[in-house]
Amino acid sequence: MATDESKPIPGGNTVLVEFDEGIAWVHLNRPEKRNAMSMELAREMNAVLDALETDDRCGVIVLTGKGEAFSAGMDLQGFFRASDAVSDVERHRAYRETRAWQWRTLMHYAKPTIAMVNGWCFGGAFTPLICCDLAITDQDAVFGLSEINWGIIPGGVVSKAIATLMGDREALYYVMTGEKFDGRRAKELRLVNEAVPAAELKERTRALAQVLLTKNPTVLRQARMAYKYAREMDWELAAEYLTAKVDQTTFVDRERGREKGLAQFLDEKSFKPGFGHYNRDAE
Ligand code: ACO
Repeated sequence: MATDESKPIPGGNTVLVEFDEGIAWVHLNRPEKRNAMSMELAREMNAVLDALETDDRCGVIVLTGKGEAFSAGMDLQGFFRASDAVSDVERHRAYRETRAWQWRTLMHYAKPTIAMVNGWCFGGAFTPLICCDLAITDQDAVFGLSEINWGIIPGGVVSKAIATLMGDREALYYVMTGEKFDGRRAKELRLVNEAVPAAELKERTRALAQVLLTKNPTVLRQARMAYKYAREMDWELAAEYLTAKVDQTTFVDRERGREKGLAQFLDEKSFKPGFGHYNRDAE
């Protein structure tokens, strides 16, 4: 298979990418500003995510932050003040570019995504956190929907995003009080899959990414998309859509996973789905 080893590494300024055996570690890189998200960062992140989607060095993305923070949210200077100071058209574009990477692209990304929360996570940072497929946090990371404390509402798509994972009582409690909470509480609130000690965060995240790298990538993509679209549908539509999606998956899967799995279980009796994975390398 062709590799992309000679391609330039995307990002390099407000976003840093490191490749590591199929994992692309994507770092928000404004540690001196606690990785607050500026207009420039949005542009760079859009370019990075575009590039990684077709880069063979990336099988899974881990989104995290350099330094002490995952992200302190939208940059109050470099996004809010800066976008107030430009024309309506440029302001519209700044919001569109931010929504693009934080929500649309991550939510529908062709490759699996894991948010690794390594410190402060405030306001607008909830959107990319929630739009990644999976999330692991330092149990002592500090989260906050701080908007109410300084005169705005959780905008962008934060209010919509938290409603997809948190219960109404809990979401409204934090929207209305702006109270902070730690990683353990984030786990209880279903914002993350796991909360682990800081010293274990990277290794645990790497181990999870490595599990994802062992899966049939086409079926993994189809399964993620099917889940995300089906949850927005009523039952009748979901049943029709999922039935069609099953057929589409078989059609587009060059690895012929369904065929191999059936043959190995039914004919060869070499594999049981209850005890592992079909042999992907079999012809
Ligand atoms: N926007 C712009 N600059 C920021 C932001 C932000 N969201 N967060 C931190 N910074 C800047 C600080 O102004 C400071 O800049 P300076 O060195 O030029 O003075 C630098 O980052 C470091 O921040 P400190 O506050 O000095 O760091 P500390 O570790 O003491 O505190 C904390 C970190 C708690 C994250 C604090 O910076 C903070 O409360 N930030 C704002 C968090 C927030 O409410 N975010 C939501 C924004 S609204 C939204 O996202 C929709």
